[in-house]
Amino acid sequence: MRLALLGCGTVGSEVVRLLHEQSADLAARIGAPLEIAGIAVRRLGRDRGDLPVDPALFTTDALGLIKRDDVDVVVEVVGGIEPARSWLVEALRAGKSVVTANKALLAEDGASLHDAAAEGGGDLYYEASVAGAIPLLRPLRESLHGDRINRVTGIVNGTTNFILSAMDATGAGFAEALEEATELGYAEADPTADVEGFDAAAKAAILASLAFHTRVGAADVHREGITEVTAADVASAKAMGCTIKLLCIAARGADAAGRETVSVRVHPAMIPLAHPLASVGDAFNAVFVEAEAAGPLMFYGRGAGGAPTASAVLGDVVAVSRNRLAGVRSASESAYADLPVRPMGEALTRYHISLDVADRPGVLAAVAGVFARHDVSIATVRQGPAGGEAAGRGEDADLVIVTHVAPDAALAATVRELRGLDIVRSVASVLRVEGGL
Ligand code: NDP
Ligand code: HSE
Repeated sequence: MRLALLGCGTVGSEVVRLLHEQSADLAARIGAPLEIAGIAVRRLGRDRGDLPVDPALFTTDALGLIKRDDVDVVVEVVGGIEPARSWLVEALRAGKSVVTANKALLAEDGASLHDAAAEGGGDLYYEASVAGAIPLLRPLRESLHGDRINRVTGIVNGTTNFILSAMDATGAGFAEALEEATELGYAEADPTADVEGFDAAAKAAILASLAFHTRVGAADVHREGITEVTAADVASAKAMGCTIKLLCIAARGADAAGRETVSVRVHPAMIPLAHPLASVGDAFNAVFVEAEAAGPLMFYGRGAGGAPTASAVLGDVVAVSRNRLAGVRSASESAYADLPVRPMGEALTRYHISLDVADRPGVLAAVAGVFARHDVSIATVRQGPAGGEAAGRGEDADLVIVTHVAPDAALAATVRELRGLDIVRSVASVLRVEGGL
């Protein structure tokens, strides 16, 4: 088996290292030796340390490498949409098998890759694209294929989980926790894709596509990041016996006419400390899958880093290589259900709302009236003096309201109307609540 490696950065260099260290085992597992035919990079002169590979294998001509007749498998660990898309479409159309970790491309235009794979007859594997080392996509695409998945709830971004875990542990604000994540090498110099939820949204689209046999792209995913989460929000969550996590949630549902739909969203949410995802700290990832026959399943591990991600890449390389030797390919994309994606306004969720209100008769009734007008049912109400018990009784009060499940649009309209009331001095925080309370 001859392999073209596109990219030799954080992940690619670990792929090279593992290929070298495990070459005998890999050959035995595949049934043939696995050799690197070439490595495409951007900068030929870059210092690559003591990488155990012949320097003559490096090239800047990725397309030329892909087109070579002696290349069977193309591994793409470059990232981004172009030129990666053109390279992989070229490789797949030519009948090569492709292994990629490129979640951004899969979520942006997975259809082009799947169509090219169907045309060329090779395999398209992408285990490393979601939750790094965790074996997750294979279970969804193979092991659970006989079951019906109803919901997938995950922490799929390590950087934001590190930041939120640090805020929870130390009471730090977002900026301070981000600084720590950057210093420790968890956050990139430009952390936008992580902290604004783009990375998690891409992964949510990939998970939803596999779980619900429906093409879901990044544009279908409702996305909110964690930049607005404050130390006060984290303290509120703690007071409720909860913690805040950036969740990706993909769920089956039904529209007003009873037709089956899916909703896919990424946003910060309060979850009770007893929830299995609450204890996922540091930069770890975890995904909680609810299937009809199997029941709840939890997948946990490292979602990023060179070696963990390379582990998932190599697992795919072995699988596609074995298929090629056997002259078969794995099942192609399963998108037969083609379920409509529901707008966020129709997603069913719960809100935790902290208000700073005037402390006088009738205020509670007026606030409750706003919820009633939008058909949002209140689950719990807690009131105390503004600034906490130590502040004593002043003219204002803190009001914390948790709702029952309601459509997101009704909850958002409720908050908008509350913001316009004279008696509401400020809406201190609005957070969704997931996982029961
Ligand atoms: P890096 O930035 O560390 O490496 C990118 C590699 O691609 C470098 O070797 C670079 O070359 C090469 N490259 C960039 N542009 C070109 C080009 N135009 N032509 C040829 N080569 C090019 O990225 P990572 O290794 O971190 O990530 C790779 C992929 O894996 C991405 O899709 C990412 O989303 C995904 N991924 C990464 C994880 C991680 O923990 N890092 C986790 C899970 C997925 P050069 O070395 O010369 O600069
Ligand atoms: N930036 C991503 C994270 C890398 O923090 O999880 C893995 O996809």
